[in-house]
Amino acid sequence: MTQKIKITIMALLIATGASAQDKNLLDIRKQLDYCAVQASKTLQVIPEDGTSPRTVPNGSKEWKFVDYKDWTSGFWPGELWLLYEASKDKKWEKEADKFTRYLTPLSISTTADHDLGFQVFNSFGNGYRLTKNPQYKEIILKTADVLAGLFNPKVGTIQSWPHNKMGGHNTIIDNMMNLELLFWASKNGGDKKLYDIAVQHAKTTMANHFRPDYSAYHVLIYDYDSGKKIKGQTAQGYSDQSMWARGQAWAIYGFTMTYRETKDPKFLDFAHKVTRVYLDRLKTEDLVPYWDFDAPDIPNAPRDAAAAAIVSSALLELSTFTKDKALKKDYLAKSSKMLASLSSQYQSRDQNSAFLLHATGHKPAGSEVDCSINYADYYYLEALLRLQKLK
Ligand code: GLY
Repeated sequence: MTQKIKITIMALLIATGASAQDKNLLDIRKQLDYCAVQASKTLQVIPEDGTSPRTVPNGSKEWKFVDYKDWTSGFWPGELWLLYEASKDKKWEKEADKFTRYLTPLSISTTADHDLGFQVFNSFGNGYRLTKNPQYKEIILKTADVLAGLFNPKVGTIQSWPHNKMGGHNTIIDNMMNLELLFWASKNGGDKKLYDIAVQHAKTTMANHFRPDYSAYHVLIYDYDSGKKIKGQTAQGYSDQSMWARGQAWAIYGFTMTYRETKDPKFLDFAHKVTRVYLDRLKTEDLVPYWDFDAPDIPNAPRDAAAAAIVSSALLELSTFTKDKALKKDYLAKSSKMLASLSSQYQSRDQNSAFLLHATGHKPAGSEVDCSINYADYYYLEALLRLQKLK
């Protein structure tokens, strides 16, 4: 890291009251090297059966592997692409290509749910951005059409879980993330209607998916035929009215990305609003949230390092769209502090070969609580690269 970058990050950390330990540890180059070492260890243990690593349970050293159908299947190839971007080392390109290609069937089947954006844009999308391989492009375009098949024009959103009958057409806040695939496809040779679908999904979500304080419901149920909102509820949060940390993180990232793709100021204004409630309610000293802001057992509730990684990455992008100097500084300082905390207090190091510990997947189901999860690692790496590029 150049001296100038170090000084700027130090200044941001000082502005937000980071500890002396944080200031010493946010060295982007060192963090990228750490991620590369951990990922190299993971590569040694992946079976040659088309699966990829998803999670390491709390206290274990062993990854659990998943096949291409799993909603997280795009994150591991995505990490490999980001490591290639960081180093330009062909070793990572070769591995990224291998794990990306495992996901090819997603482009030619009917889809089980909305997660195709997470799966295919993080894998093939990053791959195409970095290599311009036309085979990747073809797969992204085909997958976008498959995802668009879940759009219900009467409601104005893509259905998230078609197999899950919840008393209507369901859409989860996470689904904002999948719009990036549609925006990209519409601008890179795909059908222009994909753009309209993504915009309509974002508008409908903006109108219905939030409480008056701009905190998100996890799940929204709409009437299939009239398109009217029936109710908001949770699936992975503490309660129907609580603010599930990762859900809010998806909203922050999703509306920031939607502004980037549309340049519609309504979406930018909304991104600021959903960010403000998150930052105002974030009371942890290290800026890594509890898994749900309303968890009844705070301060003993598990954290969600994944939410912190997603938000830190989104704040870096949102800061670039912000003309208000104080707000821009606040976003940059908070993002840097989140990354400093993750790098100093949440690293897996010798415990396992993930990058981070203390992510929480599905607390109400007792699944993936306080463990390592590939999407925490993916967004951590993405945020490090974004911070590096900002300089
Ligand atoms: N998209 C599912 C989750 O965030 O757990």
